[in-house]
Amino acid sequence: MRPSIKGLCLTALALTPILTTAAVDNRDVIDYRQHIMNTLNEQAGALGQILSASIPDDNVVAHVDAIALTASTALKAFEPKVPGGEAKPEVWSNWADFSKRMNEFAAMTAKMAKTAHEEGKDAALAQVVDALSCKNCHDTYRKEMPKK
Ligand code: HEC
Repeated sequence: MRPSIKGLCLTALALTPILTTAAVDNRDVIDYRQHIMNTLNEQAGALGQILSASIPDDNVVAHVDAIALTASTALKAFEPKVPGGEAKPEVWSNWADFSKRMNEFAAMTAKMAKTAHEEGKDAALAQVVDALSCKNCHDTYRKEMPKK
């Protein structure tokens, strides 16, 4: 039997105390932008498997859409000036450059998604390397730390 919508909502609420407390502290801000980055990472990882031909390419358009949608939410998550996590302080001291790069990333992934819908998955995959400028930004703005 399918779980009811109500049951799913109650479960989500139980797992998300933030919905019942108004206060958003710095840990929440950092967790939120890391959730967005990890979403990008999982979707890019899935595309990478397809590109290496280990997985059939049926879901390319969906992965490209997911990346574009997530990229469009990323800048908002960095707007609160909360240094910490793996973000270098330069994110906020060079905000004009950081936000420009994030907006370009969102624009490039949106273009790749549009191509996927209009011209098909092969045309979209040809843009992956240019669109996924993850490392370019990380080299300047992320201080990668060993995972616990
Ligand atoms: C314009 C800059 C920028 C772009 C583009 C960008 N990132 Fe990030 N990313 C960051 C910053 C800054 C952090 C550190 C966030 C923090 O820990 O607070 C980060 C952190 C991460 C993390 C670590 C999250 C964690 O839980 O610690 C992963 C994984 C990641 N990014 C993947 C990606 C992938 C994959 C892409 C491309 C598809 C991407 N990022 C594009 C700036 C960027």
